[in-house]
Amino acid sequence: PGGGPLKGKRILITSGPTHEPIDPVRYLANRSSGKQGYAIAQAAARLGAEVILVSGPTNLPAPPGVTLKRVETAREMLSACEASLPADIAICAAAVADWRVATDAEQKLKKQPGEAAPAIMLVENPDILATLSHLQKNRPALVVGFAAETEKVIEHATSKRQRKGCDWIVANDVSPATGVMGGDLNTVHLITASGKEDWPLLPKQAVAERLVRRIADHFSPAKAA
Ligand code: C5P
Repeated sequence: PGGGPLKGKRILITSGPTHEPIDPVRYLANRSSGKQGYAIAQAAARLGAEVILVSGPTNLPAPPGVTLKRVETAREMLSACEASLPADIAICAAAVADWRVATDAEQKLKKQPGEAAPAIMLVENPDILATLSHLQKNRPALVVGFAAETEKVIEHATSKRQRKGCDWIVANDVSPATGVMGGDLNTVHLITASGKEDWPLLPKQAVAERLVRRIADHFSPAKAA
């Protein structure tokens, strides 16, 4: 990567959905294209960072200059993150499934004529953002989470920041009227320990660039311009 304001910084980024198997051919998942996380990875690499992108299943190619680790489940995502430490910065942009199937079947579940549909029992998945934020050893100096909210955006994101133990939360309003979900534009608020910053309506790519610039400024404010 050469020079750049993030040279010498190692950044771990999670992106995409996770897939939680029900049986060998079926899974539970969140809807996520992975675009925002991949855009952040690419923007960070352009600023000279060493980037490890831990991604659930997506259709996106590895951004240039980024180490891509592909995973399927939340538990695999957490292991891949832990194996990627130490890192200076962690950015959790993945849409992790909150639950997984308690015992996924080894063989494909079969429809049995006349029998009731199978019941699926769920158990909680690890929270990757909260886990990284609370590490005793190797906690990244800056941990950033995302919060997609449909109402009381600032209030909910502020309490999420505290609950998860992360340093920053990038909050956005995804209520249907905004068109953010599946769209190209995003209005975000950056929640930090010292308050909130309201960013203008921006393409998601520009949100990624602004976020990594903001991170670079955080680490070396003197060089900020
Ligand atoms: O609680 P909620 O899912 O809204 O929090 C969103 C933030 O938490 C995102 O940064 C997401 O990547 C992270 N997260 C996680 N592991 C989970 C659930 C959410 O890292 N199991």
